[in-house]
Amino acid sequence: MCGIVGILGTSLVAPQIVEALKRLEYRGYDSAGVATLNNGVIERRRAEGKLRNLEAKLQETPLAGSVGIGHTRWATHGKPNERNAHPHATDKVAVVHNGIIENFRELKSELEEQGVVFETETDTEVVLQLVSKEISNGRKPVDAVATVLPRLHGAFALAFLFAGEDDLLIGARHGAPLAVGYGEGENYLGSDALALAPFTANIAYLDEGDWVIVTRESVDIRDASGKSVDRQKYTINTGSFLADKGNYRHFMLKEINEQSEVVGRTFSHYVDFASGRVNLPVELPFKFQNLKRLSIVACGTAYYAGLVGKYWFEKIARLPVEIDIASEFRYREMPLEEGEAALFVSQSGETADTLASLRYCKAQKQHIISVVNVATSTIARESDVVIPTLAGPEIGVASTKAFTCQLSVLLCLAIAAGRARGTLSEDEEKSLVDSIISTPGLISETLKCEQDVEKLARDIAKSRDVLYLGRGTSYPLALEGALKLKELSYIHAEGYAAGELKHGPIALIDETLPVVVIAPSDSAYEKTVSNMQEVAARGGRIILLTDQTGSQASGLDNISSVVVPDCASVIAPIVYAIPIQLLAYHTAVLMGKDADQPRNLAKSVTVE
Ligand code: F6R
Repeated sequence: MCGIVGILGTSLVAPQIVEALKRLEYRGYDSAGVATLNNGVIERRRAEGKLRNLEAKLQETPLAGSVGIGHTRWATHGKPNERNAHPHATDKVAVVHNGIIENFRELKSELEEQGVVFETETDTEVVLQLVSKEISNGRKPVDAVATVLPRLHGAFALAFLFAGEDDLLIGARHGAPLAVGYGEGENYLGSDALALAPFTANIAYLDEGDWVIVTRESVDIRDASGKSVDRQKYTINTGSFLADKGNYRHFMLKEINEQSEVVGRTFSHYVDFASGRVNLPVELPFKFQNLKRLSIVACGTAYYAGLVGKYWFEKIARLPVEIDIASEFRYREMPLEEGEAALFVSQSGETADTLASLRYCKAQKQHIISVVNVATSTIARESDVVIPTLAGPEIGVASTKAFTCQLSVLLCLAIAAGRARGTLSEDEEKSLVDSIISTPGLISETLKCEQDVEKLARDIAKSRDVLYLGRGTSYPLALEGALKLKELSYIHAEGYAAGELKHGPIALIDETLPVVVIAPSDSAYEKTVSNMQEVAARGGRIILLTDQTGSQASGLDNISSVVVPDCASVIAPIVYAIPIQLLAYHTAVLMGKDADQPRNLAKSVTVE
C-alpha cells in the first residue's frame, strides 16, 4: 500500500518520478505527489485522486530539479485529500512513507507539547517533524534520520529529501519493502523493481531494519545498528515488466484473456508433458510422505486458491490441510509440530499478514514454501523454497491470472504429494496430467462465453445483492466470485457452500435476488441441482454456470445459464474462474466503475 520512489538523476527528475509512479499506482491511488530540490529549496506538487491529476498539475506548473521523491497513496491515517498527500515537507526535509507509524499518537503529543504545529492528519507527519527538528537542532541529515528511526514503531518504508542537499536521498525499511536501484551516475529508491524498471535492471532489496544513504555515485546500506552491510544484488529482467493494455479496454480484461497462455506456461514449468508426470524443478526441504499435515495461509483471492488446494491435497495426496486467512492465523498462536510444512500463497509476495504468519511459522520451525508471483518479493526471499507462478505482472488490482496460476501450481504440488505419499498410481497421475494438458485449450474455449456473460451482467448490474453457491472445489470459487463482484461493482455479494443454503441464507431468496450457481457436471452436480430447485421454488433468479452435460441435465426451466466446455472435474476451478471473473468485470464496466482500480483498494497490502 502506497508506492514510494526517489531519484538522484542528472536531468529533470519530476517526469521520471511520474513515470515510476505510474508503475506503482497499483499500490494506491487516493492521491499522488512529487517533491524536488530547486536550487537547494524543496518544492512540491500534490493532487488528490489518480496520478493523472498530478500529471495535469505538473504540466501547468512544472518542477525543476534533478533530485526528488514521489508517492502514490493508499490512505491509512487522514482523509485522501491534497493536504494529506505525500510528500510531506518542512523547509528542511521532505518525506514519503508507505505503511503505518503505530506510535504516532504519542510522538505527536510529545511534539505538540514542544510547540510543533501539525499541518496534516497523517501519521507520516510525525516522522517529518522529528527529522526536521533534529536538523534544526544542528544534526546533519544522516544523523537526524539515524536518531529518529529507532523511535518509530510499526511497519513502514520511508524516503527522505533534504533542503540544500542536492546529492543525497535516504531510505529506510521496517516491515514494508524498499529497493535500491543502481544506475550510471544516477541512483534510485523504489517500493519495487517494477517502479525502477525504466531506469535500471540492477536492484538490491533492503532487509528488515536496514536504511540506506544514496548519492549519485554511492549506495551505503546500513543495518539497524548503523553498520554498513552488503545486500545481494539482483538483475531484473526489465522486459517482463513492460506492461501495457494492448488493444484491451482495461488491464483486467487483458489479464483475463492472458490466462490460457500464463496457465500453460505455469503448468509447463512443473509438468513433464512427454512422460505425463509432474516434475518439480526444485528440491523441497521435506518429504511429503513424512508430513502429518500441511498448513496453508494466505489472504483474499490467494486464500481462496489455497482453499481449492486443500481439497486437492486431501483428495489426491490424503494429506490433511489446515488453512486459514493470514490476519487470523498470525495471532491465533496455532500449535505447530516442529518439522511440518507451511505453505504461503501470495501474488505480490508482500502482504503484511501473510508475511507475519510466515515468520511465525519459521519461529515454530516449520519448513516454509511459498507460491508467489513476484519472485524477488519479501515472502519469496524469506521462504525455504519458492514455487513461482508464472503469471507475469498483474496490474489490474483485482486478481485474475495470478489466481488461476496459483491454482495451477497448487494442483502440481498436490500431485507431487500424491506420488510421494503413494496415494496416486502412475496411471492416475498420467490421467491428471492429461487434464492439465487440456487446460489452456479449455480456457480459450471458455473465453468465448464472454458475450453470454455480458448479457447476464446487465441483470446483475441492477441488483442490490447477489448470492454465489457451489459445492466441493466450486465452493471456494463461489467465495471468489462474490469477492470479485463486490470489489469491482460495489454490489453486495456473498458466497456460500450450496449445502449451507438451507441453514440460513435461504431466507434471503426472493425474485429480486440473483443466485449464481457454479455447478460443473461432477459427482456433486445432482446435489447442487437440488439446491437450485430450492431456490427456484422460492422465486429466486438462478444464473447457472455449468458445462454442456450439466446444462442438458439441470431439468430446470426459466433459468439463465453460461455454458462452458465439459472438462475433468479436477481442473474445473481453473475453467470456471473465467466466467466469474468476466461477470464481475462486465458488471463493473456497465455500472461505470473503474475495473482496474476499484475504490479503496490497493494491489499490495503491506499494512495489517
Ligand atoms: C482480490 C485480491 C486480493 C488479494 C489479497 C492477497 O481480487 O486481489 O484479495 O488476493 O490482497 O494479495 P497477495 O496475493 O498479493 O498476497
